[in-house]
Amino acid sequence: MRLAGKVAVVTGAGQGIGRGIALVYAREGAAVVVAERREHRARRTADEIRAAGGTALAVTTDVADRASVLAMVERTVADFGRLDVLVNNAQGMHEHRPLEDLTDEQFDVFLVSGLKGTFWAMQAAFPHMKAAGGGRIINMVSLNALVGAPGLADYNATKGAIQALSRTAAREWGRHGILVNCIAPGATSKRGQEFLERNPDAARRIAEERPLGRLADPEADLAPVAVFLASDDGHFVTGQTYFVDGGAHLT
Ligand SMILES: NC(=O)c1ccc[n+]([C@@H]2O[C@H](COP(=O)([O-])OP(=O)(O)OC[C@H]3O[C@@H](n4cnc5c(N)ncnc54)[C@H](O)[C@@H]3O)[C@@H](O)[C@H]2O)c1
Repeated sequence: MRLAGKVAVVTGAGQGIGRGIALVYAREGAAVVVAERREHRARRTADEIRAAGGTALAVTTDVADRASVLAMVERTVADFGRLDVLVNNAQGMHEHRPLEDLTDEQFDVFLVSGLKGTFWAMQAAFPHMKAAGGGRIINMVSLNALVGAPGLADYNATKGAIQALSRTAAREWGRHGILVNCIAPGATSKRGQEFLERNPDAARRIAEERPLGRLADPEADLAPVAVFLASDDGHFVTGQTYFVDGGAHLT
């Protein structure tokens, strides 16, 4: 129960990494706000948490819409009285495109949901965390930004900017006890696992090239680091990016 008594908001918690973090946060004793654009996904994760004996509130939220992000934070504080941990995980996506073919509209799908959504949520959380004497913010970034993965200019630019925003916030808000860190998760997805089951060659390559030889599991591999960063144990860590990827960043 390392997060007992804490209130956490996890955006994009309807599936994947956000869902994994939400479930594990609740198991560690946090009351979790499942903030997710798709209502049925938000409800599904919140129901899972409650069925396991945890506390959860589903709040349909579009992080690409400033008013919706502000409402998410207001609802959290109205229902639970505080906001201790904010995990900015939601990220709008579209298919890969070469840089020269990207349109403004496509670029904005990433930039507005990822960078602006994170910025709005951080700003909205700030007065509550400051008044409480501190808080934790965890922003999801990606190894792709560091290595300039081709076909992902919009995604990479967004994630690189989120990392820079996080470092700045760590410096500006440290004196208020607000710690801001990033997680760059290793590749994980249900689709990824299914793909590897159908493609033994790709599975073999991952096993040979990556130090820990497999994709990540959100609950077992990624969420524990998000728990650490939100818990008392993480009290002297800020401005960091954790590559929780089984060593993939070395390859
Ligand atoms: N999966 C990976 O391999 C991987 C690798 C590196 C980084 N990441 C990052 O981790 C985070 C989570 O990735 P994932 O694979 O779990 O994603 P996912 O697509 O499986 O799930 C994302 C969830 O966010 C929701 N969402 C999308 N746009 C939203 C919006 N505008 N407002 C609110 N909710 C919205 C979706 O409905 C979905 O439920 C993202 O920031 C992603 O960039 C993922």
